[in-house]
Amino acid sequence: MKIIHVKNYEEMSQQAAKMVLDTIQQIEKPVLGLPTGSTPERLYELLVRAHQVDQVSFQHVSTFNLDEYVGLPADSNQSYHYFMNEHLFRHIDIPTNRVHIPNGLATDLEQECARYEGHLQRAGQIDLQVLGLGVNGHIGFNEPGTSFNKRTHIVELEDSTSEANARFFKSKEDVPKLAVTMGIETILEAKRILLLVQGKKKADILRKVVQGEVTENIPASILQRHEDVTILTDIEL
Ligand code: GLP
Repeated sequence: MKIIHVKNYEEMSQQAAKMVLDTIQQIEKPVLGLPTGSTPERLYELLVRAHQVDQVSFQHVSTFNLDEYVGLPADSNQSYHYFMNEHLFRHIDIPTNRVHIPNGLATDLEQECARYEGHLQRAGQIDLQVLGLGVNGHIGFNEPGTSFNKRTHIVELEDSTSEANARFFKSKEDVPKLAVTMGIETILEAKRILLLVQGKKKADILRKVVQGEVTENIPASILQRHEDVTILTDIEL
């Protein structure tokens, strides 16, 4: 793993934006894997700016989001569909049919997972998978204890995750209990992975992720086994 220590959130976001922009400018039909959460917000702002100010086009780009809550109404502003549209997609020229986000409103969720995997297979490998890190070590919504061999699947969210994400909802009780997420096996198939970790509250978990044993109890620790992982972080390890 290549760990790059940055001064602050801004520098992390600038370097992340450069990696994403290099990827979409160097590859003919780039495929990006994208996260939600507070961490990538500035990265998305910078990508929007690259489009609006520097005329960078996203017309040839395909994207796959990591996850989505189950059961939020279509117009819910807490859904990851809403988040991605607001922060990125509606400001750039990416064709809607190249944007993929799991459908948390599907009546048959198992079938939805299979459908999502099908889209991923047809797109070929993800060229750059961007990840954030949950305070419990999750990536996507793969909670501690999830098998490393899972592909896109349905998960039950841990209490600590509901607590961490409650700030986007009226209360912790309003955070959905289930989500659809790309599995660890799916995530590890990406050619390159970029993990963004910012802020003191993630220092302990990041140390375990990079220095501890590889264990399903700390899902992100599996990244130690991937051959091309970059971590951008303001945490001193
Ligand atoms: C959510 C998402 C993850 C994200 C994590 C960290 O649970 N499912 O993909 O990485 O939160 O979020 P934040 O960046 O807000 O700390």
